[in-house]
Amino acid sequence: MAQHDIAIIGGDGIGPEVTREAMKVADAAAEVFGFSLKKTEYPFGSQHFLDTGEIWPDAQFEETKQMKALFLGAIGDPRLEVGKIEYGIIAKARFELDLYINLRPIKLYDERLCPLKGKGPDDVDMVIIRENTEDAYAGMHGFCHKGQHHEVATQTMVYTREGVERAIRYAFELARKRNKRKQVTLIDKANAVRAQDIWTRVFAIVAAEYEDIKTDHAYIDAACMWMVKNPEWFDVAVTPNLFGDIITDLGAMVQGGMGIAASGNLHPGQVSLFEPIHGSAPKHAGKNLASPVAAILAASMMLDYVGESAASAAIEATVVDLFKSGQLKAVTTGAHPTNEVGDMVANALRKVGASV
Ligand code: IPM
Ligand code: MG
Repeated sequence: MAQHDIAIIGGDGIGPEVTREAMKVADAAAEVFGFSLKKTEYPFGSQHFLDTGEIWPDAQFEETKQMKALFLGAIGDPRLEVGKIEYGIIAKARFELDLYINLRPIKLYDERLCPLKGKGPDDVDMVIIRENTEDAYAGMHGFCHKGQHHEVATQTMVYTREGVERAIRYAFELARKRNKRKQVTLIDKANAVRAQDIWTRVFAIVAAEYEDIKTDHAYIDAACMWMVKNPEWFDVAVTPNLFGDIITDLGAMVQGGMGIAASGNLHPGQVSLFEPIHGSAPKHAGKNLASPVAAILAASMMLDYVGESAASAAIEATVVDLFKSGQLKAVTTGAHPTNEVGDMVANALRKVGASV
């Protein structure tokens, strides 16, 4: 029986409760599909930092490098200095594990979840590839004359040929594998951010190797408009880190809300991190109100990544069925008790297992 070593960080706010439900479902999938998950849970997050002064110590960080995947619930806590926990956990994982792809599927599972008039599941089915290690996130920033009236603040958008190329190449490979519209859209702002000319040029070079894949281009402002007006125009899109951060929140709304949007932070072939894209929602923490569907779908992405593609697909199909049958009504906060959604999906999965 295959065993997969997984590190789990529930994190802050609603993170631990949605993670619990995601793991409940992953365990049910393991039972049904005949594999096991060896889970190592870590207490890291803002409360742990406030209690102990440690964020993610080197010894535990090294341990995670030996695992197949990491699962993260959510981070963020208003009691901490802005960026402290973000740079200590999510950015640390992304940079030090070189998780260069942020994979964000935007798929509408049921028409009722979509806020767009007249759009259905056939119209909203795309994947945004967000470059995940460079751009304004590279951390090159500074201040001078801090606090003075003539203070200057800068943050450098960093693009390397290697970083840009590997993200673009991943997008083309994915478009081929998905075999849907066979199209990659480059989203940038090269008309204003002239350094992004490197994206324009590298995109053209890589595209030439993929004659079977069509290409398209949209500036980020227009892409936001198209995503709302004509989401069916997108198949795979690739974009620099910061625009990817922003447009995937818009994408989450188009697919039904933060309660359903999942993501993977990947270094193909190495340990990779999976998380719902929502934040820690401190005001809802501990109330059993948050939707764990995004976390459950992130667990499904994680299982696919570790090679359990049948289990992954079964979780996704189960979630879709539960929406279609009306058992899952919505993914808004409070629509269902958090634990009941996990039970519902896990039980439905076991029924699938019993019938095969
Ligand atoms: C995300 C989040 C992070 C980001 C924050 C928590 C730093 O918004 O994963 O999209 O901006 O990348
Ligand atoms: Mg974000």
